[in-house]
Amino acid sequence: MTEARLLDGKGIAADVEREVRTEVAQLLGKGIVPGLVAVRVGTDPASEVYVRNKARKAIELGFRGTQEHFPGDMSQPELMRVIERLNSDDEVDGILVQLPLPPHIDSEAVLRSIEPAKDVDGFHPVNVGLLHLGTATLVPCTPAGIMRMLESTGESLRGMHAVVVGRSNIVGKPVAALLLQKDCTVTICHSRTRELPAVTRQADILIAALGRPLFVTGDMIRDGAIVIDVGINRIEPDSPDAAKIRDENKSQLLRSGKSVLAGDVDFSAAFEKASWLTPVPGGVGPMTIAMLMKNTVTAARERRG
Ligand code: GUN
Repeated sequence: MTEARLLDGKGIAADVEREVRTEVAQLLGKGIVPGLVAVRVGTDPASEVYVRNKARKAIELGFRGTQEHFPGDMSQPELMRVIERLNSDDEVDGILVQLPLPPHIDSEAVLRSIEPAKDVDGFHPVNVGLLHLGTATLVPCTPAGIMRMLESTGESLRGMHAVVVGRSNIVGKPVAALLLQKDCTVTICHSRTRELPAVTRQADILIAALGRPLFVTGDMIRDGAIVIDVGINRIEPDSPDAAKIRDENKSQLLRSGKSVLAGDVDFSAAFEKASWLTPVPGGVGPMTIAMLMKNTVTAARERRG
């Protein structure tokens, strides 16, 4: 039985932030203050936390970081006018529209309306195309953060079988493209995949990004695999998932009536099988924000530096 080494997202994110601070200092020397605007529509509680954290980190790193928040009944043309204004504001280097948007808004059209040079999420079709060609400068933040964590293991990824569970445009598809660029053999699985455990058991690198708490169980993990858990799920004390949590600290919190965060992977089971494992919280989450900051300084430098 092995015990996994933990991939410390907070620590690796702090390294990325140090690099960003150096770049910010260079830009400030030229009179350029990187500007990031996070747009939020509606009252999704998770989005509220994410956007607040993004704007806060931007300010901490010396950016002009702002949040624009609009009511959930904002119309599509109104939102498009906001994007147009931000596109033409020279002091805005990065525009981020937090997803999900309310159902009456066409998210694809909104993402297409962002100037590609300011698209710090890397979601515009031009940036998606460049990503798949291997020439993107603005790469989606969570996938970029995952790659940075994999690099930090010091292991050569060449020839490894990477299995990605989840096919979203935000994580699954872009991380598969990045793994392919590192010479991995890549399999993308999803809700219709047959014999999923048999596929995930082949993984040297297993990426869980499907958004279902504790979905990946010990029997789905090969001994010695690198396991990256992208899920951030809130578990309430009275939910059926609460009984699956074996981590003593989290169990104690649940018993005292508090909710806890858990990933898409059964952490305790994975800990006994994986060679490397990301915790939740403190794994992929901090990396997403750090890579957003990196994309914003990159966008500022490319456009104005
Ligand atoms: N919603 C969940 N993840 C993300 C992300 O990385 N960027 C944006 N804009 N919205 C998200």
